[in-house]
Amino acid sequence: METCITRETLKKKKIGVLMGGLSPEREISLKTGQAILKGLLERDFQAIGIDVDREIPARLVEEKIEVAFIALHGPWGEDGTIQGLLEVMGIPYTGSGVLASALAMNKAMAKKIFLYHRLPTPEFQVVMYGTRSSISIAAPLVVKPVCGGSTIGTSIVMSEKDIDEALQRAAYYGEEILVEQYIEGVDITVGVLNGEPLPVIQIVPKSGFYDYASKYTPGRTEYLIPAPLPETITKSAQELGVAAYRALECSGAARVDFRLGEQGELAILEVNTIPGFTETSLLPMAAARVGIDFSSLAERVLLSARLYIDAKMRRDD
Ligand SMILES: Nc1ncnc2c1ncn2[C@@H]1O[C@H](COP(=O)(O)OP(=O)(O)O)[C@@H](O)[C@H]1O
Ligand SMILES: [Mg+2]
Repeated sequence: METCITRETLKKKKIGVLMGGLSPEREISLKTGQAILKGLLERDFQAIGIDVDREIPARLVEEKIEVAFIALHGPWGEDGTIQGLLEVMGIPYTGSGVLASALAMNKAMAKKIFLYHRLPTPEFQVVMYGTRSSISIAAPLVVKPVCGGSTIGTSIVMSEKDIDEALQRAAYYGEEILVEQYIEGVDITVGVLNGEPLPVIQIVPKSGFYDYASKYTPGRTEYLIPAPLPETITKSAQELGVAAYRALECSGAARVDFRLGEQGELAILEVNTIPGFTETSLLPMAAARVGIDFSSLAERVLLSARLYIDAKMRRDD
């Protein structure tokens, strides 16, 4: 396997910050990408921004991109597909590889891996749209697209009669739908940087539901960092965060979202392999708390860029 590139080598390389993309999270990705680009330029890297569309292979060749910083969220960006393209093109990239990206993006597959590792995650069921009768978990429930993000298409269902509408909303983003037991409690999240946990953040949305508007409208959510929790819970959350990251074989930066139940029980919801990465996003906020400023965080992630498929396998190198 190719080892990480050194800082000196990277300074001579042309870096493409891949942003935008084709997913419903395009707007967020553009913000993430611009922030990362600014951070890398501050650190004197030769970086340019690239808005990703279907012409991306030609663009990468044209711009002579040698290393990719992936700032894409959602399908075609966070799910292993762009990572696969970069593997084929031989361009080292930041973050998780093809397998980890694909597993983490698919919340149902990720939860199956958590179960194998005995990591706590809410009880769940995967349903194909149109098979309502097969739901066996009692309300309250959370209904979400298996491959979604940013709470898009997600509903909290307090009573059985609202299930149909919730399934329909989720189905807009894909036929496979995750139905989960609703965990009464609060949201916490743990950033993991190159295998090490960052401080725990407690998320307090003023509306009570950490939906798209609460995530991206300034002032709608309060973030408590470090989370005002008993030391034992903080420690378990960090350990579980790292365990979930390892279970999926993640690399670089990732962020693990949890529900913390009223009895102090932790439940892993998902692992974000390309978490929001603006100056005010959660992972950068947690990193800042331990003295890693934004541009140095961007640099650390860039330094972890690599290819995962052994170069010796290639016949044309
Ligand atoms: N099982 C659950 N119980 C309670 N709240 C949940 C549950 N699943 C999701 N949520 C709420 O929905 C939000 C988004 O869910 P999540 O699984 O993190 O998906 P994503 O952030 O990719 O949209 C969470 O931050 C949480 O507030
Ligand atoms: Mg989440």
